Amino acid sequence: MLVAIDGPAGAGKSTVARAVAGALGFTYLDTGAMYRAVALAGDRDPAGLDIAFDGDRVLLDGEDVSEAIRTPEVAQEASRRAADPAVREVLVAKQRALIAGGDYVAEGRDIATVVAPDAEVKVFLTADPAERARRRGVPVDDVNERDARDQGHGRTTLEPAPGATPVDTTGLTIDEVVAKVVDLARAVRS
Ligand code: DC
Repeated sequence: MLVAIDGPAGAGKSTVARAVAGALGFTYLDTGAMYRAVALAGDRDPAGLDIAFDGDRVLLDGEDVSEAIRTPEVAQEASRRAADPAVREVLVAKQRALIAGGDYVAEGRDIATVVAPDAEVKVFLTADPAERARRRGVPVDDVNERDARDQGHGRTTLEPAPGATPVDTTGLTIDEVVAKVVDLARAVRS
């Protein structure tokens, strides 16, 4: 079974997806981390990269890059590389192969549209730009700019994919959001 969580930067996708995976006993897949790993690898051909997960750790060619991929510079470069159709093709194929191997909560921008349109549960997480900017500790202009840059290529950064349930997290606690998504998944499973 797959729970797909899409949405813009700062909507809380990672935190929520990790907690939902824990609650359901599913594996968490952070697809943004894969784009970040490609960015960290510089100009190397993404098809030749070994991007893997070991629990919460992200491995690039066997090296733990979990912290290295979280810098603002890598985020910026990831956003740029994610606009390359060749990069997307490689990563979408990798993501499909991973998801096929078990029960997953996958988080990104194109899970319910491109990677797995037949996901059993589709959630679109969002929040006011002002709140997303506050959560990230960046000016609201940065959030709006990133939203604009993370559009296209089938990504659903500004509105839900067909059949996705929108969850506006503005003013909600993490626990409240997690409970909502877990309820949606349990309703499908029973
Ligand atoms: O979610 P994140 O900030 O870790 O994502 C890093 C970049 O990768 C972001 O600019 C958008 C891009 N991305 C994407 O295009 N498609 C995805 N499924 C996940 C991330």
